[in-house]
Amino acid sequence: MDIDEVLQIRSDEEIMRYIGKPLLTTKAEAFAYMQELQYTYMQKEGICWAIALKDDPRMIGMAGYRRFIREHYRGEIGYAILPAFQRKGYMQETLTAIVEYGFNKIGLHSIEANVDKENIASIHLLEKNGFTKEAHFKENYFFNGRFIDSVIYSLLSPLQPNYAEP
Ligand SMILES: CC(C)(COP(=O)(O)OP(=O)(O)OC[C@H]1O[C@@H](n2cnc3c(N)ncnc32)[C@H](O)[C@@H]1OP(=O)(O)O)[C@@H](O)C(=O)NCCC(=O)NCCS
Repeated sequence: MDIDEVLQIRSDEEIMRYIGKPLLTTKAEAFAYMQELQYTYMQKEGICWAIALKDDPRMIGMAGYRRFIREHYRGEIGYAILPAFQRKGYMQETLTAIVEYGFNKIGLHSIEANVDKENIASIHLLEKNGFTKEAHFKENYFFNGRFIDSVIYSLLSPLQPNYAEP
């Protein structure tokens, strides 16, 4: 189980700074969060992968589709990597795989990311991968006693299959 690493990620103030969710503080909370992710996957409503190096099974980050909007062939991504492994190109590699999976394996038409406007690392990562700014919602998210802007970035599939009505 990756419970220690999940707790490490979701309790890290630096990682969680722009994620807008409460910090986890106990293994029990980390377990409950993992159960939520598992349930989401079982319901086919999302999918979360653990990121690990090829020669070490320990989880260094997590990434995936937080949710699918099935009727619109759209998915929303999320990702985080431990500080010790940042700026080494791992999320670039991960995002490439996630996008490829979304368009080619699941058949999504568009992928979105909901980002804090101050999350420069994430915005640069998205722009580097062809995502463009699609919307800016002002103070639409209430967290920790203040209203935060949300910026939506998106990427359209280069493929044009015949999408059936779901
Ligand atoms: C955003 C995050 C996932 C990037 O992961 P990473 O593995 O460090 O990214 P990579 O090393 O693969 O970098 C890929 C690109 O992302 C951008 N990037 C990554 N970190 C950056 C930083 N600190 N400042 C500016 N751009 C950055 C750059 O464009 C970079 O390409 P380059 O190296 O050619 O300049 C990481 O900083 C993180 O986990 N942040 C905390 C969690 C988070 O905010 N998640 C996103 C919620 S929307």
